[in-house]
Amino acid sequence: MSKLNQEEVYAELKKLKENAYVPYSKFKVSCIIYLKNGIKVFGVNVENAAYNPTICAERTALSQLITQGYNKNDIEMIALYTDSNKFGSPCGTCRQTLSELVFENQSIWVYNNKEFLGCYTVKDFLPYSFSFENLT
Ligand code: THU
Repeated sequence: MSKLNQEEVYAELKKLKENAYVPYSKFKVSCIIYLKNGIKVFGVNVENAAYNPTICAERTALSQLITQGYNKNDIEMIALYTDSNKFGSPCGTCRQTLSELVFENQSIWVYNNKEFLGCYTVKDFLPYSFSFENLT
């Protein structure tokens, strides 16, 4: 397992956010899923003129994670950046997607355009989530 550095992660998130496709909101978001094997899985938000097909950075990265054959067991840390001076909070859809695909105690490092805001878990963002158990 690699040793993740708060400043290095911040630099990578800020570089990655420049790839965001945000002609409508101009609001850049980036997400990096750091795997235990050292591989990084990237995501940015990708918008659409029809608005609805827009995908958030977190779900872009999570879709990549699954596409590339990985799963929750492979994740060391998830890092999230929003281009804002406020708290960079994952949207409700992303919280639900995180709760489906990631362990509830998985750490998520959150940054905004000023600083590192803290380390949170999936459960912090979505307690009492709806899951497979609720279907049975
Ligand atoms: N956005 C994300 O990428 N992640 C979130 O959790 C919140 C919102 C994006 C979607 C859209 O492109 C822009 O931010 C403004 O909502």
